[in-house]
Amino acid sequence: MIRDGMIAFLACLLTVACTPDSPRLVAPNQIDVDSIPLPLADTLADAAHGETLFVSRDGGHCVLCHQVAGLDAEFQGDVGPALTGIGSRLSPGQLRLRVVDYELVQPGVLMPSYYRIHDLYQVSDAHEGKPVLSADDVEDLVAYLSSLKETDA
Ligand code: HEC
Repeated sequence: MIRDGMIAFLACLLTVACTPDSPRLVAPNQIDVDSIPLPLADTLADAAHGETLFVSRDGGHCVLCHQVAGLDAEFQGDVGPALTGIGSRLSPGQLRLRVVDYELVQPGVLMPSYYRIHDLYQVSDAHEGKPVLSADDVEDLVAYLSSLKETDA
């Protein structure tokens, strides 16, 4: 009896997990606690391009909410925490997960999910089915953020 109940419960769980949904760009087995340990792209990451994406309006426009001491950008917002020295506090895998989909760290966060296409709202037709950033872009940003080390001033 208990066994039958268990099977019914598991079948129900499976149904929920298998409900048709937009595809996931990052499979659950790529995620390890709060990190995506392996790169999303094979190409060599370009930290300088990551910095450009961080600042530019067409890229991540991360400066809208984040400051980095010493960064050459006119406007830097403070909705999110300053990312000065973030490369000393978070591993590349932790940074990758946060750029990909911060919702996985903190549901309801104001920070956009930059590499996700499932469960998105208010997506314009032109952007439907496309993540904000490509896998290469995410890697370039991870390389840039990792390079921001705390210095003993
Ligand atoms: C609309 C505002 C917004 C934008 C745009 C934004 N973020 Fe964030 N970000 C936040 C907030 C808010 C948090 C803090 C969440 C929390 O409390 O954990 C955060 C947290 C982070 C963290 C973790 C910081 C820490 O100290 O743990 C990283 C790394 C990060 N953001 C990187 C980025 C990058 C890279 C971009 C651009 C691709 C970006 N963010 C764009 C709002 C934003």
